[in-house]
Amino acid sequence: MLLTNEQIERYERDGFLVLPNLFSAAEVAILRAELPALFAADTPANFREKHSGIVRTAMGLHLRNDVYRRLVRHPRLLDPAMQLAGDELYVQQVKVNVKAAFGGETWQWHYDFATHHAEDGAPLPLALNLHVFLDDVSEFNGPLYFIPGSHRDETVGARLDTVTTSYPLWVVDDATVARLTEGGGIVSAKGPAGTGLIFGDRLVHGSPPNMSPWQRRIFSLLVNPLSNAGTSHRRPDHQHHRDLTPLVPLADDCLAGIHRAAE
Ligand code: SIN
Ligand code: MN
Repeated sequence: MLLTNEQIERYERDGFLVLPNLFSAAEVAILRAELPALFAADTPANFREKHSGIVRTAMGLHLRNDVYRRLVRHPRLLDPAMQLAGDELYVQQVKVNVKAAFGGETWQWHYDFATHHAEDGAPLPLALNLHVFLDDVSEFNGPLYFIPGSHRDETVGARLDTVTTSYPLWVVDDATVARLTEGGGIVSAKGPAGTGLIFGDRLVHGSPPNMSPWQRRIFSLLVNPLSNAGTSHRRPDHQHHRDLTPLVPLADDCLAGIHRAAE
């Protein structure tokens, strides 16, 4: 599945692209069915919320589970990523970000490259963040907020925040966020389960706490060109993988195949 010229222009202008109906309800059900066991595991790759202790993000899923091993090679994710970033991509990070009903906590304003550069020594902001909604995402259950066009301002700095949440993150200060929103405001990424998203390493984004009765789980695959691999191994493998094997897309029905085999 390749992006149209119009989609590529929109991605370059806004810094993100929404891909409606990227995965079917049946495929989302297959992805969701694996989550309870993955979240129950006692592993440092499962980060828990600071206050509730509920899983906030579960990482390294493609090394822990066959369905997610296939998902990181899914052509509906990789074909557009290879189109935008080149065809020699490795898996940088794989996770499901959970925002639990009545307690999922914030992701502060940030751009991913600040963390990838400062913690992992990635030279350039070339990684792509590929999302799949595993629940319906609305204005109520903690959607991602994007600042359109913020990726084009290369002067935006960041500082390490180890206090606000359980997850250390390089964040952008309030005055900078206020300035960046003067052009195009804030857009929230909403849609039914199965919606896809692509955004780049310099796009400023975040998400509010979830005080609704509806959980919000989003799959996130970060891919990075081999030529831009991290140069520091300060963080554990599940936060920035060291395996630089280039990703090769599987068949379009690679998830449905698992379903048939399980029947
Ligand atoms: C979120 O899951 O709300 C934030 C994800 C991200 O920063 O990539
Ligand atoms: Mn992020």
